[in-house]
Amino acid sequence: MTMTAASTFVLPADLDAFIVGLPKAELHLHIEGSLEPELMFALAARNSVAIPYASVEDVRAAYAFSNLQDFLDIYYAGASVLLVRQDFHDLAMAYFERAHADGVRHAELMFDPQTHTDRGVPFADVIEGLLSAMAEAEARFGITSALILSFLRHLSEEAAFETLAMAEPWLDRIAAVGLDSSEVGHPPAKFERVFAAARAKGLKITAHAGEEGPPAYVHEALDLLNVDRIDHGNRALEDEALVARLVAEEMTLTVCPLSNHKLCVVDDLADHPLDRMLALGLKATINSDDPAYFGGYVADNYRAVAAARGLSREALATCARHSFTGSFLPEAAVAKHLAAIEAFVPES
Ligand code: ADE
Ligand code: ZN
Repeated sequence: MTMTAASTFVLPADLDAFIVGLPKAELHLHIEGSLEPELMFALAARNSVAIPYASVEDVRAAYAFSNLQDFLDIYYAGASVLLVRQDFHDLAMAYFERAHADGVRHAELMFDPQTHTDRGVPFADVIEGLLSAMAEAEARFGITSALILSFLRHLSEEAAFETLAMAEPWLDRIAAVGLDSSEVGHPPAKFERVFAAARAKGLKITAHAGEEGPPAYVHEALDLLNVDRIDHGNRALEDEALVARLVAEEMTLTVCPLSNHKLCVVDDLADHPLDRMLALGLKATINSDDPAYFGGYVADNYRAVAAARGLSREALATCARHSFTGSFLPEAAVAKHLAAIEAFVPES
């Protein structure tokens, strides 16, 4: 059985092989959250950036979070080692290698331009580094990918507009805009106009909502941002009418089990609501969010819920189907991936 060092989810070897072999898309991945401590150290040395850790072990020891903000403080500090185009390329290639090993066929990568442009890193270097890695990943691994430009919600809407303006020359290379960072106190309503502007430019829309924020934020994401999917959405379960609406609208939720556990959105993985979401008819998917910080890539997230909640192969395959139907891929590509799942499932 192949296990990453962080994988503590020991499954029967055949179930493990099923999870890895299952064709899947990853829809909720912050590329800055895939910065492994080893690469953080290498980039810190290459770029002469001081980091407040003595060793890789020291970094990992700092990854104990009691909420989203605890994590974000460390995540933004870690991103300070990313300075030039090659850094963004190397970061994304490291992610694609892990994704390939996990059976990912398509990945939609969120990136936070403001985390970099506010430190003086040109937008062009961030996006060109990512794009060159995406092209290499397709050539080497056959993994397709798309970019989601995420606005930092703790900053102003004006700053989000400035970021959208910087992205103008690359709009044909960006699939969607997203909304991330500190949720509580920064409701979707704060960004209604910039999301309308992005939509008018032909971009798809996604937003973190209901991770720590209340169900009202999920309502706002639907009503005011016109989202195509919801990132996390856990707290929607507190509102029966909202669940019915998400089901009726076939809204994809990009659920992140290990993240939910590490950020105390759930106290125990054994209480994770993924199978409840599926039973309610929600289009839940399984994703890694910030895998370097939360202890595992996408297959580990499948393993974690399979082990903690006893998810059946059929339930895991349903999540993989949702990952393609909820993607921003063209219909023909979605159909091809769904057919690959159907071919894989009876074989396994
Ligand atoms: N940025 C990176 N990961 C995030 C998460 N889980 N929630 C909000 N913003 C984020
Ligand atoms: Zn996220």
